[in-house]
Amino acid sequence: MIIKKYIESIGLKAYPPEDSYLHDLPAIRNLWKAGALAFESNVVIFVGENGTGKSTLLEAVAVALGFNAEGGTRNFNFETRASHSDLYQYLKISRGAYPKDGFFLRAESLYNVASNIEELDKIPACAPRIIDSYGGVSLHQRSHGETFLALVQNRFGGNGLYILDEPEAALSPSRLMTLMAEIHDLLKKDSQFIIATHSPILMAFPNAQVIELTSDAIKTVPFRETEHYKITKQFLDNPERMLKYLFEDS
Ligand SMILES: Nc1ncnc2c1ncn2[C@@H]1O[C@H](COP(=O)(O)OP(=O)(O)O)[C@@H](O)[C@H]1O
Ligand SMILES: [Mg+2]
Repeated sequence: MIIKKYIESIGLKAYPPEDSYLHDLPAIRNLWKAGALAFESNVVIFVGENGTGKSTLLEAVAVALGFNAEGGTRNFNFETRASHSDLYQYLKISRGAYPKDGFFLRAESLYNVASNIEELDKIPACAPRIIDSYGGVSLHQRSHGETFLALVQNRFGGNGLYILDEPEAALSPSRLMTLMAEIHDLLKKDSQFIIATHSPILMAFPNAQVIELTSDAIKTVPFRETEHYKITKQFLDNPERMLKYLFEDS
C-alpha cells in the first residue's frame, strides 16, 4: 500500500484561553503536553470516554481543512446551528499531499446532509443532480445505516481524506464489517481515515493507529489495551458475572 498521508500530525500552536471550555478539555490539555501527535497510519482511530473531546478534536481538524462543521464535503456550507468550537484556530496541522476527495461525517448531522442535498437538487441547474452521486435515492428514504453505507459506497471516491465521528452509531455489527471492507478498498486508492469510535470491532482494523484519550494522556496503544476493548471483552466473556456485580447494591 502506498502511504500518502494528507495529514501528518496535529498539535496546538497556542493554548485556548481560560474563559473557553476548551481550556479544561482533557484532549486539549494532553495534546498540549504531548506536543505534536504524529499520524503513523492511514487509519487513525481516536477512542476514549465520553466527554474527553474526540468530537471537538475531529470537528476542529475538519473545519481547519475547510469542511463544513456539520458534516459533508468541502462543497457543503449549510449551518443549522452555529455549534462548532473555535479550536480550529489553535490547531497546528502538518499536511502532506492535497486530497482530491473528502468527507466529514458526524452521525448526528447525517440528517442535515440529506436535507441539504434535497434542497440543492431543487435549484434548477445544468449540473447533474447531487443525489445521483449518492446512489440516486433520497437519503431520507433510507434507514440511518443504509444512508450511511450509501454515502460511503457511492460518494467516497478514493484519493481522499475521510473524517468519521462514531460511524458505528448507525450500523449493525455485520454492516460495520461491510464498512471496514469499504475502508480497506479506499485505502488501496490512497485514502486516509480519521475516526472516533467506541467500537472494539472497528478498533481492530489492521494496522490502524489507535490513539486513546484519557483524563491524563493521549497516546497510541494496541487496541487490545484500550479500556473499551477490555471492558467489552470482560462483559462478553461472562455477562452474568458482570451484571451481578453491576446490580449488586441496587
Ligand atoms: N459549546 C460548548 N460549550 C461548552 N462545553 C462544551 C461545548 N461543546 C462541547 N462541550 C463539552 O466538551 C466536552 C467534550 O465534548 P465532545 O468533544 O463532544 O466529547 P466526546 O466526543 O469525546 O464524547 C464535553 O464535556 C462537552 O460537554
Ligand atoms: Mg463524540
